[in-house]
Amino acid sequence: MQFALTEEQNLIRDMVRDFAEKEIAPSARIRDEEEHFDRDLMFGRLGELGLTGIIFPEQYGGGGSDYISYAIAVEELSRVCASTGVTLSAHISLGSNPIYLFGSEDQKQQFLRPMAEGEKLGAFGLTEPSAGSDAGGTRTTAVRDGDSWILNGTKIFITNAGEADTYVVFARTDKEAQKHHGISAFIVEKGAPGFSFGKKEQKMGIRSSPTFELVFENCRIPAENLLGEIGNGFKVAMKTLDGGRIGIASQALGIAQGALDASVAYAKERQQFDLPIARFQGVQFQLADMATQVEAARILIYKAAWRASAGLSYSTESAMAKLFASETAMKVTTQAVQIHGGYGYTREFPVERMMRDAKITEIYEGTSEIQRLVIGTALCR
Ligand code: CAA
Ligand code: FAD
Repeated sequence: MQFALTEEQNLIRDMVRDFAEKEIAPSARIRDEEEHFDRDLMFGRLGELGLTGIIFPEQYGGGGSDYISYAIAVEELSRVCASTGVTLSAHISLGSNPIYLFGSEDQKQQFLRPMAEGEKLGAFGLTEPSAGSDAGGTRTTAVRDGDSWILNGTKIFITNAGEADTYVVFARTDKEAQKHHGISAFIVEKGAPGFSFGKKEQKMGIRSSPTFELVFENCRIPAENLLGEIGNGFKVAMKTLDGGRIGIASQALGIAQGALDASVAYAKERQQFDLPIARFQGVQFQLADMATQVEAARILIYKAAWRASAGLSYSTESAMAKLFASETAMKVTTQAVQIHGGYGYTREFPVERMMRDAKITEIYEGTSEIQRLVIGTALCR
């Protein structure tokens, strides 16, 4: 066992940190205020850096790196802008990875390659108004009609929606089947007839990441856009989410690290009682707890990522990493606001945005309760 990053992983951290600090950070506050998704900056530039296909083999336009490198990239982006972090995470883990894992060779060349190369942005449509945590309650339908599938239904809260070009969407192909059975996965392209976008969500945090409803009204897609085997969609979704949870855990880690860094810097700067507040043990103890939780989250994430790259099972490990990292992000950002005092409650300092951004990591890709359910089920099997 060794804890050091490889030379490649260190190079990726340096490159992404440099890019994030110089190019992403300066506009993070204004994009948050204006709910502005800057596609060129938040996706196009990531493609130029080779990040949009980082975990996929070169034969599909990817970078051929491992999951730890991917986790590092999402962490470094999220350290300055959690919206950019989730854009990459949703694109890679949710939009692209199911096509890599379950797609035919033709689907990989047609859909995955342009996504990995940063030309087309991906998204994932699982959640519905009455099927959130209970993903097996999917009501959207897909009916075969000659050489096409016809989709009807609504997906809600979809990250990257509106901007994304390629959507992996789940629909019921067998109306008689119960619960998670009889669901299939499909690839739907923006512009497909009968596919439109509904309400844009106005959110507490990650406000420069677009979140829209997907509306399917007799939406016609080619028969060959079925992804994986018919009726196997729930497993496609679950395996996809195993990887996605590493991405969101890394987003949470980045937010927490950013809040810790800001707090240490502020505590050294801010004077009260004729001393920098960092000299008070009460403040140092808070910083010590924050740093310890951040490091523990990082190690859980790297372990899950390492198992994913080694081809080992990692469902429980990614649920643990996501659970711990997201709850750490919430605790650490709340403490960061406390250390900044009244200034931390204003938009002058980024910790206010970080605390708002942290909350979503306890909700999406499975709430903290669902992560506990996944871990608990594995323990008591
Ligand atoms: N890998 C492979 N198969 C799996 C699996 C996994 N990780 N987890 C479950 N399965 C299989 C089971 O083995 C079972 O198979 P059989 O039918 O062969 O027995 C089948 O799936 C059903 O399993 P469960 O009975 O455990 O299913 P359930 O209905 O009780 O649901 C759940 C389990 C974990 C709660 C699941 O519904 C879930 O993960 N819910 C949360 C949904 C979620 O995370 N949504 C995120 C949307 S994406 C998002 O939010 C985007 C973003 O962040 C940007
Ligand atoms: P519910 O399932 O209604 O849960 C409500 C509460 O009940 C929660 O506290 C939950 O933990 C608890 N609960 C539910 N069931 C149980 C149980 N069995 N045991 C204990 N507690 C339980 N979805 C996508 O498909 N694609 C996306 O790209 C996407 N992006 C998102 C982006 C944002 C900003 C948001 C807000 C959501 C996004 N989602 C996306 C949806 C997200 O995954 C769901 O919101 C999440 O899974 C929870 O579902 P829900 O909102 O319906 O809550």
